[in-house]
Amino acid sequence: RQEIENKPAAAVVFDSPVLRHESNIPTEFLWPDHEKPGPYAAREFQVPVIDMAAFRSGDPVAVAETCKLVDEACKKHGFFLVVNHGVDTELLSDGVREMDRYFELPLSFKEKALRKLGEHCGYASSFTGRFNAKLPWKETLSFRFSAEKECSHVVGEYFEKTLGQEFADLGELYQKYCNAMNTLALEITELLGMGLGVDRKHFSEFYQENDSVLRLNYYPPCQKPELTLGTGPHCDPTSLTILHQDSVSGLQVFVDNEWRAVNPTPNAFVVNIGDTFMALSNGLYKSCMHRAVVNNEIPRKSIAFFLCPHKDKVVTPPPELVDATHPKLYPDFKWPALLEYTQLHYRSDTDTLLNFA
Ligand code: SIN
Ligand code: FE2
Repeated sequence: RQEIENKPAAAVVFDSPVLRHESNIPTEFLWPDHEKPGPYAAREFQVPVIDMAAFRSGDPVAVAETCKLVDEACKKHGFFLVVNHGVDTELLSDGVREMDRYFELPLSFKEKALRKLGEHCGYASSFTGRFNAKLPWKETLSFRFSAEKECSHVVGEYFEKTLGQEFADLGELYQKYCNAMNTLALEITELLGMGLGVDRKHFSEFYQENDSVLRLNYYPPCQKPELTLGTGPHCDPTSLTILHQDSVSGLQVFVDNEWRAVNPTPNAFVVNIGDTFMALSNGLYKSCMHRAVVNNEIPRKSIAFFLCPHKDKVVTPPPELVDATHPKLYPDFKWPALLEYTQLHYRSDTDTLLNFA
């Protein structure tokens, strides 16, 4: 219902490139004073750079160094860059470029993929459930990715079924993209496992089957970027996020009581820990608040892969991470229950996992 109620304002902005350049921003997009980004640029935040080639090399010194870097970053804020990841750079540039084919269509066409109430996939021009009156200045297209073999074609089919035959190649492209992200995500869970000092395969086996999501984020230019937000402050409820940003800045992380910019680094992914992995690590690895700001010049595009557990798996930390000095912090849960909770009760200023308990 909210989605329908909020549609007029979003439609005005997102249906017409002319109106995107209007400086009269509909009030639904104006954020309260304490949350709006304001006119000052955030200081840059240099997050640790993790070399996947060093991790893969098997050289004990290089592996230990990589694990130490990731461990330090995850204990502090949960953000790091991943380089030498092995993902085809052409796949990444195609992924970003081809987003225009969809997002530059008229709203009436994009709505063929409209996200239905209670659904997490499809087209949305606002996160109505989570941010309500403070609409995000962005459009998204999300699809479910399941690592189970019999579902490995679902992204590919989604485009063709929802948008028509002429989008079949886009489906193939994002299917390939998901497969590459899934492989990388599982490898990163091994790195995290080693950082935490548990068996290397512990988490990659847990996520072998998973119910993940790929989201294409399209942030149109906004004439009053200091008053609006592309994505409001939030912690990812998911397990791990692998983000590919185009060359336009916008991602900011809240560290040491300050918003800091994580600017794009060519051929590097930004990886961050979500609430679910924080629970799996018994609170050792942090899920940190972040947001995306917009600008008044050019659209910004990002592609996020959210690794999520298989719906039937119980999220519980391995026994090695629970003892008398580290009592279990969060109750066990299954991913669909947390997802449903965050859709209904999300607040950026509270600890979702503790309240969910
Ligand atoms: C998000 O955190 O959901 C979006 C981040 C981005 O687009 O940079
Ligand atoms: Fe996020």
